[in-house]
Amino acid sequence: MIKLHDLHFKPFISEKEIDATIQRMVDEVAAQLKDEIPVFVGVLNGSFMFVSDFVKKYPKPCEVTFIKLASYEGVKSTEDIERLIGLTQDLTGRTVVILEDIIDSGNTLAEIHRIFENENVKELLIATLFHKPEAYKKDFKLHYIGIDIPNKFIVGYGLDYDGLGRDLPEVYQLKTTQHMTNFVLFGPPGAGKGTQANFLKETYNLVHISTGDVFRSNIKNKSALGMLAKSFMDKGELVPDQVTIDMLNAEVEKNAGANGFIFDGFPRTNAQAKALDQLMDEKDSQIDAMIALEVDDEVLVQRLLGRGKTSGRPDDADERIIRNRITEYYKKTAVLKEYYMAQDKYCGVDGVGNISEITERLIKVIDKL
Ligand code: IMP
Ligand code: MG
Repeated sequence: MIKLHDLHFKPFISEKEIDATIQRMVDEVAAQLKDEIPVFVGVLNGSFMFVSDFVKKYPKPCEVTFIKLASYEGVKSTEDIERLIGLTQDLTGRTVVILEDIIDSGNTLAEIHRIFENENVKELLIATLFHKPEAYKKDFKLHYIGIDIPNKFIVGYGLDYDGLGRDLPEVYQLKTTQHMTNFVLFGPPGAGKGTQANFLKETYNLVHISTGDVFRSNIKNKSALGMLAKSFMDKGELVPDQVTIDMLNAEVEKNAGANGFIFDGFPRTNAQAKALDQLMDEKDSQIDAMIALEVDDEVLVQRLLGRGKTSGRPDDADERIIRNRITEYYKKTAVLKEYYMAQDKYCGVDGVGNISEITERLIKVIDKL
């Protein structure tokens, strides 16, 4: 993810995909023009990278020139196009291929057609690397289109947001929701997860989503998803991941203005971790980290036995059961640790010490996200 001025952008089209797209366009143009020597006309500023890469790939002799037009203000296309540099050579009788980085409303393209109206070129062909079909309001034919994209603002590969971003070798898309900090919180039983989650949600104004609580409240309130989940539980079956994800989605949507989310009790499997990534991606957001409280087994056993004396929870009273729960935890979370480590998102935090010391350690980690 990147930030330009006040806005956040997420990776959208890779260098590799851009490269393959340009190669395909070059092949199409070259196949159609055969031995004709075309004049490629780049539309500055945005097209400089596209033109450069395009003509380097072009397999036959060609000429290259530029015109310079300006239309965009911030992230919006405007009606009046400024002609900053017009044509500087006679193109009578030539085959001209316009190389555009992006065609949005088509206003710029209309101006290009005006520029060429009296030029008596043999043929005027339009090639654009990116095209927003939902935004395009003109009838001019687009002869070569690289990639159709949704009507969202992009930057990179020549395209800018108020001057920034042109230098990026790949393309990023504007995030429509504000930046959130989201992490999944892990810890073996007795690690102090609940206590710490409470402090963290206050400190960062995050929403704590505990899957267990979400389930219980959905079932208690007889929501459609709650009833669906219950129907599986009543049959003694596992609730399908999609049902859980749909519930989490509802929680996320309910708190659309949140600074972020602490996920607790989910994911538990690789498939769930992927589903959660996808959910966050749909929200134009992401999981920033898996934060795991690390506490030595013996410390956990002592803590839980201590808690058992006062809480009356039967599963906290028996040392054998406690050790089993801890072993289970490590068995289950090992795959998740690997999953998040592979993305460089695993953060282990020492969970031994007094509560405020541990909170401080967590805050250090979260501040860096
Ligand atoms: P149009 O005149 O609306 O078709 O827009 C064409 C020009 O607007 C392009 O040449 C770009 O300079 C700019 N533009 C359109 N969409 C975007 C975008 O998503 N990011 C950055 N610039 C854009
Ligand atoms: Mg342009």
